[in-house]
Amino acid sequence: MDRQMVMVGFLQAQNCTNIPASWRHPESRTDFTTPEYYQEIARVLEAGKFHLAFFDDRLAMPDRYGNDHAHTVEYGIRCVKMDPVPVMMAMAAVTTRLGLGATGSTTYYEPFHIARTFATIDHMTHGRAAWNVVTSVNDGEALNMGRAEHIEHDLRYDRADEFMEIVLGHWDSWDDDALIVDKKSGRFADPKKVRRLDYNGQYYHSRGPFTVPRSEQGHPVIIQAGQSGRGKRFAGRWAEVVFSSGGIAPRAKEIYASLREEAENCGRDPNLVSICNAITIVAGESKTDAEDKMAEIEKLPLEIDQLSLLAEGVNFDFANRDLEAPLTDAELASFSGMLTIRDSVIRASGKKNPSTRDFININHRGKVTDAVVGGPKEVSDALEEMFVGRACDGFVVAATHIPGAYADFVRYVIPELQRRGLYHRDYAGATLRENLGLPVPAIGAWK
Ligand SMILES: Cc1cc2nc3c(=O)[nH]c(=O)nc-3n(C[C@H](O)[C@H](O)[C@H](O)COP(=O)(O)O)c2cc1C
Repeated sequence: MDRQMVMVGFLQAQNCTNIPASWRHPESRTDFTTPEYYQEIARVLEAGKFHLAFFDDRLAMPDRYGNDHAHTVEYGIRCVKMDPVPVMMAMAAVTTRLGLGATGSTTYYEPFHIARTFATIDHMTHGRAAWNVVTSVNDGEALNMGRAEHIEHDLRYDRADEFMEIVLGHWDSWDDDALIVDKKSGRFADPKKVRRLDYNGQYYHSRGPFTVPRSEQGHPVIIQAGQSGRGKRFAGRWAEVVFSSGGIAPRAKEIYASLREEAENCGRDPNLVSICNAITIVAGESKTDAEDKMAEIEKLPLEIDQLSLLAEGVNFDFANRDLEAPLTDAELASFSGMLTIRDSVIRASGKKNPSTRDFININHRGKVTDAVVGGPKEVSDALEEMFVGRACDGFVVAATHIPGAYADFVRYVIPELQRRGLYHRDYAGATLRENLGLPVPAIGAWK
């Protein structure tokens, strides 16, 4: 079989996994501020031939709930958030093939800064870098970054389009053969092959010339995870890897088809875009073994974890209101950030005005609701069905605890996927693009 699954580790440079309660898991490592912690994850993922280790990021701890961080730090609800870039570099030092990706915000960083940071990482990893483009989520981030409130949703994406033109423009401003470095002639680089960008947009300006030459894979791989209509259009234009929250939901196939259509609408080949669904996997030696592990994990989450992460996600304070009372039209209209959370709860509850309780029951933030639980056969069957049935091209695998969840997946499931011919037995090459089957982009190919 030609088409093979893409595997991404869904990591955080923080005190827990996607599940805030994971730090309380009996087998969780607690040295999450050390390089050794991340290096162990890197080694496990590379042993499992993962294409990419990806760090999500947010520029604030969740404190929208009750406008207070007391509960966040008390219960360890993603309250530690280190900068993912240096963390990723600690992982680069102990790996040679694993791709390394991190989130960088278009709303709170400057395009020149992002372009330079990720181009540098691409050199330092010999072409293994990826950048996840996010427009960020909430007011907490705005307040930490010198703004009063988060910018409106679609405007964030309009600004992000310009941001991309600058980043890619800078990455393309050195020709591949611009460097000469000839000590005899004294010529360092060919000035005809290094250009200024001179970008003047509505929101951003950047002159150049850029200060980092092109890397082995041309430039870092672009990841995007927009779930809204505007977000998907943005992904269609720019993304080479798309993260979808479609998971294992029946709608995943629709989401997959619509994301591919967005790429086609932009004149791009959808087969050069890998759509990876976020998924939590609890793998064991057998189905019973995995179910026992799941039972252990289900004991961990607290209701406050969910309330806190929901408040963070939709930028709305659920505190001091009756959990059972329907949210008013005005309250629902005031939600911002991840609006797909609101829309999916309205759809799944069948209510125009769902209550906070509906949000808790339907949305999975903070707990594990839709994990794939099983031994090698059950997990592989589920992944195969989604992959072959065109619900995705691969998976962003979230862990229930670190490092055990990845170690179990690599030990029990990866060999079975390889046996079925669904997953590569080894890396195809040295760069992330080679391993994802993506060509080195020609200068200006994105235009
Ligand atoms: C796998 C995955 C990873 C994501 N990582 C981040 C992240 O690191 N930081 C962030 O602010 N948002 C992250 N998001 C959220 C998306 O970037 C996006 O903001 C969200 O899905 C809402 O979509 P919209 O902006 O199109 O409404 C992630 C989403 C998914 C599915």
